[in-house]
Amino acid sequence: MKKIVIAIDGVSSTGKSTMAKDLAKEIGYTYIDTGAMYRAVTLYCIQHNLFKGDQIDEEKLQESMNDIHISLRFNPETGRPDTYLNGVKVEKEIRGMEVARWVSPVATLGFVRRALVAMQQEMGKEKGIIMDGRDIGTVVFPEAELKIYVTASPEVRAQRRLDELKAKGEAASFEEVLENVKTRDRIDSTRKESPLRQADDAVVLDNSHMTIAEQKAWLLVQYNKAAVE
Ligand code: DC
Repeated sequence: MKKIVIAIDGVSSTGKSTMAKDLAKEIGYTYIDTGAMYRAVTLYCIQHNLFKGDQIDEEKLQESMNDIHISLRFNPETGRPDTYLNGVKVEKEIRGMEVARWVSPVATLGFVRRALVAMQQEMGKEKGIIMDGRDIGTVVFPEAELKIYVTASPEVRAQRRLDELKAKGEAASFEEVLENVKTRDRIDSTRKESPLRQADDAVVLDNSHMTIAEQKAWLLVQYNKAAVE
């Protein structure tokens, strides 16, 4: 088997990170969650009061980009990477509703995208990685040997997200979460800078009615096909 780059893109809350993490563990690849990187930048903005009303102070954020250091460090206890912002573990903070509300607008900013894409390309240059996001197969690694585009209905995704939030003890209603899912879809797919779109050579997975085990088996088949010498 040759070492390859696996790009997993798609709309939010499809469970694509869970899939990607499980596959990474199984085949011994490094998993990179690029959404976590956009979330960490958003958390930095919250911590430094860069949101005013519904506006982002773009100028300040641009000036601050050199002060934002993001790293993903493998946690042997969970078998998964944790996200660090300027040396502090922020895995929990970046998954809350407040970050979810602001992250799409932050991800529309060209200077943020360029900085994170450069980091992601550096992280993946040795191959043997699974990277999940929105623009991995189209912008970050257009030459990836395997590209998967994951999708599911907004209702199924809202329910999954709600279950996740509940498990973490965060209160939210189905309607609120559904609205957030739909708003994020709209912003992510209509933004000017690298909008979410399926790469022409991506394999599509609609997992609305699939179990985790079924998705895992499907993904492994795709990997075996793509990595064969
Ligand atoms: O995958 P996620 O829900 O953690 O992503 C959070 C946000 O970041 C989402 O609004 C889309 C954006 N994002 C992006 O624009 N490009 C990526 N490669 C990854 C995420």
